[in-house]
Amino acid sequence: MTRDPKWSDVTPKSLWLSRRSLMASAGAGLLASTLPATAKIAAAKSPLSTDAAPNTYEEITTYNNYYEFGTDKSDPAAYAKGLTTDPWSVEIGGLVDRPGAYGLDDILKGVSLEERIYRFRCVEAWSMVIPWIGFPLASLLDKVGVQSGAKYVAFQTVMRPEEMPGQRSRLLDWPYREGLRLDEAMHPLTILATGLYGEELPKQNGAPIRLVVPWKYGFKSIKSIVKITLTDSEPYATWKNMAAREYGFYANVNPEVDHPRWSQASERRIGAGLFAGRVPTEKFNGYGDQVAGLYAGMDLSKNY
Ligand code: MTE
Repeated sequence: MTRDPKWSDVTPKSLWLSRRSLMASAGAGLLASTLPATAKIAAAKSPLSTDAAPNTYEEITTYNNYYEFGTDKSDPAAYAKGLTTDPWSVEIGGLVDRPGAYGLDDILKGVSLEERIYRFRCVEAWSMVIPWIGFPLASLLDKVGVQSGAKYVAFQTVMRPEEMPGQRSRLLDWPYREGLRLDEAMHPLTILATGLYGEELPKQNGAPIRLVVPWKYGFKSIKSIVKITLTDSEPYATWKNMAAREYGFYANVNPEVDHPRWSQASERRIGAGLFAGRVPTEKFNGYGDQVAGLYAGMDLSKNY
């Protein structure tokens, strides 16, 4: 896969310079600042972005949940290097008009990538603000043609125990799987991310392509996707299947509905300085104006 042009070619210089100093301070000099050639990149921030200050590259790439590489937050940064992400293809099937194995370049063809700074909150009550590079999942689903009987979208992570040490244990029911209702999947806030901070997506963050659903708890945002299936019934979801009382299918961020083992009323912002400490959690992670309508008439304490 060709990885051109440089982010510096498409980003206003002032932004690029501030990014460079940020990344230099994170000691990230080894990173290749390139993105796929096939993608037209809009340098502007998405209108759906949050105004909150982003976490540093260092924070975003060293404090991760990716159990295929271990359960410590530092394991993915240490062990994900061994994952082969090029070539990569995603098998898209089920209730679609044009099923098939789509290479990453096909997927990105004609798609404009935008910078989207989203708050991302994990279920264990910590959050980060991450400048993702991505595109709406809806544009891919439109490309493959969703059939009228489809009601849900199922996602699956790559199964590769030889490269993913966690998959050699029975910690989870591998491969990691997740799902969304079709209207959630088609919402413009739901993106497939292929980068962050203007760089290709680091492996510990789910390279080469992962889901980001910013109004939901982090476990919905499945990494390193190899399979997307349109279905007419609710798909299998790994954490819901592990512990249904703790992890529901919807998993909308909601300070009013506690996890059985801890409060969801506040969260700890990862990082130092001004944003340190606990802050009250906002319903739908602050995206209520955009997404609350999806759940009109639903009891969110039952559909957690
Ligand atoms: N995807 C896979 N395949 N395996 C995982 O363990 N962890 C999830 C989600 N996606 C996970 C995954 C959880 S619990 C969270 S909070 C987010 O990824 C973390 O994303 P980040 O490491 O980029 O912050």
